Amino acid sequence: MSSESISDEIRARVESLRAQINYHNYRYYVLDAPEISDATYDRLFQELRRLEEEYPALITPDSPTQRVGADLTTTFAPITHRTPMLSLDNAFGAEELREWDQKIKRYLGMEPHSPIEYVAELKIDGLSISLTYEKGRLVTAATRGNGITGEDVTPNIRTIRAIPLALVAYAPQNAEPAVASSPSQPSLFEETAPIVSSPPSPAAGIPELIEVRGEIFLSHEEFARINAAAEQAGAPTFANPRNAAAGSVRQKDPRVTAGRNLDAFFYAVGACEGRSFESQQELLHTYRAWGLKTNPHMRVCPDIEAVLEFTQIWDTGRDSLHYDIDGVVVKVNSMAMQRELGFVSRSPRWAIAFKYPPRQAQTVVEDIVVQVGMTGALTPVAILRPIRLGGVMVSRATLHNQDEIDRKDVRIGDTVVVQRAGEVIPEIVEVILSARTGQETPFQMPSVCPACGAEVVRAEGEAVIRCPNRACPEKSRQRLLRFVSRNAMDIESLGEERIDQLLEAGLVRDAADLYSLTKEQLLPLERMGEKLAGNILAAIEQSKTRPLNRLIFALGIRHVGEHMAETLANHFGTLERLSQATAEELGSVYEVGRATAESVASFFADNDNRHMVERLIAAGVSPQAAEFAPQSDRFAGKTFVFTGTLTQLTREEAEARVKRLGGRASGSVSKSTSYLVAGENAGSKLTKAQQLGVPVLTEEQFLQMCEEET
Ligand code: IVH
Repeated sequence: MSSESISDEIRARVESLRAQINYHNYRYYVLDAPEISDATYDRLFQELRRLEEEYPALITPDSPTQRVGADLTTTFAPITHRTPMLSLDNAFGAEELREWDQKIKRYLGMEPHSPIEYVAELKIDGLSISLTYEKGRLVTAATRGNGITGEDVTPNIRTIRAIPLALVAYAPQNAEPAVASSPSQPSLFEETAPIVSSPPSPAAGIPELIEVRGEIFLSHEEFARINAAAEQAGAPTFANPRNAAAGSVRQKDPRVTAGRNLDAFFYAVGACEGRSFESQQELLHTYRAWGLKTNPHMRVCPDIEAVLEFTQIWDTGRDSLHYDIDGVVVKVNSMAMQRELGFVSRSPRWAIAFKYPPRQAQTVVEDIVVQVGMTGALTPVAILRPIRLGGVMVSRATLHNQDEIDRKDVRIGDTVVVQRAGEVIPEIVEVILSARTGQETPFQMPSVCPACGAEVVRAEGEAVIRCPNRACPEKSRQRLLRFVSRNAMDIESLGEERIDQLLEAGLVRDAADLYSLTKEQLLPLERMGEKLAGNILAAIEQSKTRPLNRLIFALGIRHVGEHMAETLANHFGTLERLSQATAEELGSVYEVGRATAESVASFFADNDNRHMVERLIAAGVSPQAAEFAPQSDRFAGKTFVFTGTLTQLTREEAEARVKRLGGRASGSVSKSTSYLVAGENAGSKLTKAQQLGVPVLTEEQFLQMCEEET
């Protein structure tokens, strides 16, 4: 069909779908504040796909359907940056930062005491990227390379959904800065209102050409997922999220990159034609309004002391981030001042990187032990001489598998560098070979399971070895521990020690046995009394009605973590339906991959497992609806934000209530917030809500609203 014969109506629909999809992408990826459900989004996407299939003449390169190309890249062609990508000078510690402040004041001919306004930003530990947009369309994406010339990685970068293929003006240019960072409580959700409430109109103020600079990174969660998958496949794992991000950007097949869920923040500009910025603050704000994701945790600081306060907050605050940072970047806010300051060799005078000491330390590997997991995977764990790392004591580090031990050549007795990043389990970075005495003992993974003596197996292509024994006592023990754990059935009075007691006394073998325990059986156990036995039985009884997603998680099915359990619970609705699903049906559920589908299907195909589940149900385990599955639409379309200390509910409970009533819980107040529920000691969110005219409820009023008849 020639493009002329396509009706205006269809053209308009395609345009409208693209605008809507881009807008909802923006809400989801950039603002972290989606307005529509995934299912509605998928419907828009499918409709656009269908129309484009029918009328290929309408396909444009920046259509949201065109992110993942199928062509393989054989070389990454060089791209010369229009403006070089500079590096930053470092400052280690408060004194060096104050010296830098003094130095630039002297350069500018200012008095030592007159303040300079700075912007403090987190220094994202990823890899830098330069995107070129011409007339608002993404044309190339290049790595930093040597700063002058980088590599063309456009097909891969296009797969990142946080990166717009076209810039659009989503918000008025004079809108207030969309940034804030709470001093006492750095949180991912402190950012101020997205200033958007309706899909965009075509942009004004977008430059003819702009090189947008920022950082590509991987979240801790994605990093763990990618490494787990690599391990499963017997492929080498990545040492840290940054290496994994760099490896993902340099993939020859963009489909592989697309599967890595890379993310990005933008913070600087290279060449720019047809538009200028007065300040770094304005730049960040404008980027966000164009659909470019900026980091919410920045602060405009009146002087260097305020910058130092920011660096202190994030020294500990960084543990709560879901990505790595390695410092704070401090920039002179005024662009006029920046121009005056200029550059020295390859770094700007107007910016500096304040570096945190890495969370690494040296210690000694006292032993290597082998842990048997729930699914039988044998994991070597280094027992370390305890050391303090980033505020916590560390005495163990995972060694993943034999390949990893061999690659790093870790031996018992070695002095090693250990590192901890955020919530991630500590790991051994390297062995200090110069500290070897010759007394160190190499380690070999056992050929039999340390718990049951069964000969271990290594599936083809996997790096992990497993105990194949269905009756392995350690596997049963780990499964039980999962079952009772806090995020599973949450049987509080049954900790590790109690479970061991029950196993030793032969009172339980699997989770279903818990539900037939009696007081008479418990009383003879050591350190057990009437009251405790009563508490244990009551806790077990209470667990019978845990939500379905928790029960699914509790079963300890390989590849089914908490999030997957929620997905499965919401989709299948009952344990029975889930247990009858074929691998194909499972695989067709959004987010369920092949390995997971097969693992779930084979779990329920197994006679022992089926029998155990039947016994659970016979014992009266009857899960409630999935935790967050909406049960009513009372709060449909309403967004709640909670702040301050609640007295009758925890924050999680309050948010769960909102979700169950069909509403959304968000972490930040914006114009689209329906209600702010303010507990005691409410802070900046309350002020913000009052400024925006968002209705504020007390906890009491919120509870009443939940209970009201509709
Ligand atoms: S500004 C001319 N801001 O740090 C200055 N850089 O050591 C351009 N980085 O190559 C950089 N977060 O990859 C800037 N908020 C941030 C940053 C940041 C991370 C990286 C960037 C740069 C390196 C310099």
